[in-house]
Amino acid sequence: MDYHVKDLKLAKEGELRSEWAAQEMPVLAQIEKRFKKEKPLKGVKIAACLHVTTETGNLMIALKEGGADVSLCASNPLSTQDDVAAFLVKNHKIAVYAIKGENNKTYYSHINAVLANKPHITMDDGADLVSTLHKGKKNLLDDIIGGTEETTTGVIRLQSMADDKVLKYPIIAVNDADTKHFFDNRYGTGQSTLDGIIRATNRLISGTSFVVVGYGWCGKGLAMRARGLGANVIVTEVDPLAALEASMDGFRVMPMAQAAPIGDFFCTVTGNIHVIRKEHFAKMKSGAIVSNSGHFNVELDLDGLKAITKKKRTIREYVEEYTLKNNKVVNVLGGGRLINLAAAEGHPSSVMDMSFANQALCAEYIVKNASKLEVNVHNVPRKIDESISKLKLNALGVKIDTLTAEQKKYLSSWEFGT
Ligand code: ADE
Repeated sequence: MDYHVKDLKLAKEGELRSEWAAQEMPVLAQIEKRFKKEKPLKGVKIAACLHVTTETGNLMIALKEGGADVSLCASNPLSTQDDVAAFLVKNHKIAVYAIKGENNKTYYSHINAVLANKPHITMDDGADLVSTLHKGKKNLLDDIIGGTEETTTGVIRLQSMADDKVLKYPIIAVNDADTKHFFDNRYGTGQSTLDGIIRATNRLISGTSFVVVGYGWCGKGLAMRARGLGANVIVTEVDPLAALEASMDGFRVMPMAQAAPIGDFFCTVTGNIHVIRKEHFAKMKSGAIVSNSGHFNVELDLDGLKAITKKKRTIREYVEEYTLKNNKVVNVLGGGRLINLAAAEGHPSSVMDMSFANQALCAEYIVKNASKLEVNVHNVPRKIDESISKLKLNALGVKIDTLTAEQKKYLSSWEFGT
């Protein structure tokens, strides 16, 4: 079997950490149990491009139990957990191509390696797999029946491919399931981003000014959790509705030009390019700590920062200290790559349980409905979303009420009024 991982000797550590993660992934475990019996993915080749974490490892195992032939590469050069990669190869004979810290060339060679398996389904996080396939591997398109996409940035890219009529097969936007973004994007990003910033810096958050750049689901979670740690949170936005929401949620909202000299910490979660630029870096307090938790490392204009820098050094792991020509110091974490996966371990297993339950059930859905699915970006079927929320509540031991006959009648009638 072909594979490319750092060191197979790390497999034992990966096994134990994956087992630990599995303890918080009961929904995926139930799906895996059914998959093992029913084999709904029998003979289906799945090429996955996801962050190679313990949670992703558990998803790969579930897909394999369902009969799939799975190959996996990383969806970011810095997010791979090398022990998990080794564990999947050694214990589960899953073809993994991922090494933490790989350069861009190796990153794309790994994407090409999973595509060489001639997949029927793509499972992407950020759409690099799908775009590589559409750009240079058109010969593979005939075999593909559909794909899934994990994240907001990927869904936006794929939607623009569909709008430009270049998308060649149906994709299910797992990100847009309520059981995904309500929890993963909000609580997952909120906690894991602060985890990454704290592991990288070991700085106190309490009493600082923490600037959250972007108030989508990820920004909401991050702002909420930074406030929980005692920071004075400032939100910057370009969208009036999101800005209004942030304001009514009790955060100070202002343009970046105004926030730059105030912030102690800055974290971008916009999905957009160069939201912190050279003019902002130049105005920051000396010692400011800047990071990104959006999918791509484009949110900070690091070339702009370099242009106003006279000295740069790595002061501790994940912290690059830039001394500017104006003598102020700006610290950038994780080279501007998503800090929750670069310096920490990504979202906790409990939320990834629901995200990856969506992935597994959508793969099954694609196999069952391939002939009916139009070439477009589709929502996760409501039934799948609802079934996951029920399974998760059940696993958490949370019981809820049911409608009485009178309530059902009331809700479906228009005659009742004042
Ligand atoms: N994205 C964010 N956190 C993740 C995790 N723990 N595993 C896989 N993908 C992720």
